[in-house]
Amino acid sequence: MKILFKNIKGLLQTLRAGKNYLKGLEMKKLSQINNAYLLINNGIISDFGEMKSCPEIEVNKIIDSKGKFILPAWCDSHTHIVYSGSREEEFVDRIAGANYEEIAKNGGGILNSAKKLKKTSFGQLYNQSAKRLEEVIKLGTGAIEIKSGYGLELSAEIKMLKVINKLKKNYDASIQSTFLAAHAIPEEYKNKREEYITQIINEWIPLVSEKKLAKYIDVFCEKEYFGIEETRLIIKAGKKHGLIPKIHVNQFNSIGGVPLCTKLGSLTIDHLEVLNEKDLNALKNSDTIAVALPNCSFFLKIPYTPARKIIDNNIPLVLASDYNPGSAPSGNMNFVISLACTKMGMSPEEAINAATINGAHAMGLSKKLGSITKGKKANLIITKSLPSYSMIPYAFGSNLIEDVYIKGKSINNL
Ligand code: NIG
Ligand code: FE
Repeated sequence: MKILFKNIKGLLQTLRAGKNYLKGLEMKKLSQINNAYLLINNGIISDFGEMKSCPEIEVNKIIDSKGKFILPAWCDSHTHIVYSGSREEEFVDRIAGANYEEIAKNGGGILNSAKKLKKTSFGQLYNQSAKRLEEVIKLGTGAIEIKSGYGLELSAEIKMLKVINKLKKNYDASIQSTFLAAHAIPEEYKNKREEYITQIINEWIPLVSEKKLAKYIDVFCEKEYFGIEETRLIIKAGKKHGLIPKIHVNQFNSIGGVPLCTKLGSLTIDHLEVLNEKDLNALKNSDTIAVALPNCSFFLKIPYTPARKIIDNNIPLVLASDYNPGSAPSGNMNFVISLACTKMGMSPEEAINAATINGAHAMGLSKKLGSITKGKKANLIITKSLPSYSMIPYAFGSNLIEDVYIKGKSINNL
């Protein structure tokens, strides 16, 4: 099946093969071809260039994209979309003055979601999660990482990971799964936390790895959640069993998670709303990449990750949604791009780079996704007719997407 897009106003993020992410200052430039064509063949990008060199070949379909932009679909490298129900009652409590930590202490937060998830059957959990996945695909997401972490007991964690794996089988979007049993200490382990952690290390990680239920290991490294030594032990156990670390650090406090995770070779460290000089230096001297989650800052009214400091220090930055019921009940990557520009001082070029090629790298997928490159998957966003691509962050709240292609298939035709 060959599809030719013609007269594209701007084909964005055209990268050469082998360029797997953009670092700091490189992010200022968004490579593009004006008045372009794009040929896809059986779900793969097979050719592109300026209209004047558009090949005269037989194709199954020609699409005139006059006035429109085509860019790689968003690569959302940090989500928790497998959860049960919602937590809008906590949102209402926060409006009335409570904060995230107080709500968690009073039985809300992650433990509240764990309670709901325990009572939810596999089928119900799958249906709720599939609905969220379909929602974000329509908003332009073509690749997504999904975490466990609302189970907090073996059977419920496995239920979550199996839901993720079933989504992987049933959808063309690229899905990566992460094991996050160390998301919170369950109520019944409050006074024996080492027992919970030992269980994760000695039994759960080996099992999850053996059954190939996850590719990544995550920990919520934060005061009142998991401390530095606990995080170290869990990362080391994960690595021993082939799980790659992607860790929640510095959401509310800097407790040493950044130097620890960079030293242990985390692929990403995510959140970083709080980032001191020591943390910044540790990041600068490592291969770990920073992931900012502006939806969470917006929703919890906490500081935004200091994107300028990170990018200007030549560190690769990623943007992701953190879609979850407590701190970011939205997986809309277009809004993420908008917040990055309006609240974090990123340019539209930097934001688009952070949410495409860099997001793909944050899931270990940049050889297959995240840019317009021959041989990569045809996961594409086709915009409506726009004066410029800066409209995407500018017109926040409007849907500027006309169509999304996942593995070469239009979601409008499904
Ligand atoms: O990334 N910070 C930890 N985990 C999620 C929130 C979890 C929740 O409140 O349910 C986050 O923000
Ligand atoms: Fe998260």
